[in-house]
Amino acid sequence: MLGNFSYKNATKLYFGDDSLKYLNDELPKYGKNVQLIYGGGSVKRNGVYDAVMQILKANGKTVVEDAGVMPNPTAEKLREGVRIARENNVDLLLAVGGGSCCDYAKAVSVSVHCDDDPWDKYFIRFEEPDCEIVPVGCILTMAGTGSEMNAGSVITNHEQKLKIGHVFGEEVMPKFSILNPTFTLSLPKRQMVAGIYDIFNHICEQYFSGEDDNTSDYIAEALMKSVIHSSLIAVEDPQDYEARSNIMWSATWALNTLISRGKTTDWMVHMLGQAVGAITDATHGMTLAAVSLPYYRFIMPYGVKKFARFAVEVWGVDPTGKTDTQTAEEGLAAMEAWMKKIGTAMDLSELGVTEDMIEAIADATIILDGGYKALTRDDVVSVLKASL
Ligand code: NZQ
Ligand code: ZN
Repeated sequence: MLGNFSYKNATKLYFGDDSLKYLNDELPKYGKNVQLIYGGGSVKRNGVYDAVMQILKANGKTVVEDAGVMPNPTAEKLREGVRIARENNVDLLLAVGGGSCCDYAKAVSVSVHCDDDPWDKYFIRFEEPDCEIVPVGCILTMAGTGSEMNAGSVITNHEQKLKIGHVFGEEVMPKFSILNPTFTLSLPKRQMVAGIYDIFNHICEQYFSGEDDNTSDYIAEALMKSVIHSSLIAVEDPQDYEARSNIMWSATWALNTLISRGKTTDWMVHMLGQAVGAITDATHGMTLAAVSLPYYRFIMPYGVKKFARFAVEVWGVDPTGKTDTQTAEEGLAAMEAWMKKIGTAMDLSELGVTEDMIEAIADATIILDGGYKALTRDDVVSVLKASL
């Protein structure tokens, strides 16, 4: 552990199949006006909306609805949410949904009391909030992003063909999040699998950097093993509460800032996936799955020792008599077999990407240098072509 860091996570969590009742403990801490943020209607179909509304009413809140947050929330929708919050003098932004609703709530929270256009200020100029922040609470219905316990917010601008994430400071983290695994049981299987791969990749993004002996990597390996184990149970029986609850808890720990401590972190699969998302609007976890294997096979020679360790510790590959490269290749083959088994996207064609889109996706790809190799633009194009 050679890194220097500080650590704080400001979000209070309530976890379990009775966790919604703790909304009663949280609501009195905030003013009367609540902006209830949700997506395209799944919360109305599975009863979560009614249950939340009942608690809001019982606590005497005035509720203003902000529905229709789409997967991959847009800059246009963000501006609408800011307008709703301003017009109704909102005291709490309560997101009920997946990562898209939580991310959107955070982006609204830093924009209500600020004059600048939120897209330009936070996602182009990457400024930090310099105005009052409206508190956010989350009631999570999909496990994957970790947005419930981090300060990340990813917004898509279709006009500019960009999908960009801003990781804010701890003051933007949700004040509280309610994680009831039963709320995730109504997810379509493909969404569940996209969430599972998103979790797994968040761990990989932080794991595949650095050569030091780092506690964060041991925690990452344990989390990856738990995700693999529970995913295999959940794809056989999506109603298995134990597996789904483990997946939900792993999702939170995969991206609540803990396992990145003391690490440079990579995040290039996300940069590639977000660029694919900017052009296609495809499901986040599937965009990551489609580019992962070509990317990891490309960078493996530059971080072969870590990839060999990944093979042994996470996938149980026996390294006896093998070179690091052989061991690492076996690990990636095991990962590929697992991805096929749970049903992730395996290439970009499945997501509607064609060869003529590659240049635009490469243009939208932000290149980071925390991993084992900083890609050139030509490398980005090669990885994208190999992912088709
Ligand atoms: O809109 P509704 O009708 O609610 O349907 C949603 C949506 O269509 C549905 N869904 C959610 N919970 C459900 C359900 N359907 C039935 N039953 C339920 N219980 O699932 C679909 C996807 O929801 P969404 O919130 O978009 O998924 P996810 O949680 O994967 O969030 C994706 C967004 O988060 C960003 C992604 O880029 C993407 O924009 N990310 C945020 C991160 C962060 N804050 O740290 C990190 C991630 O890497 C990611 O980039
Ligand atoms: Zn992700």
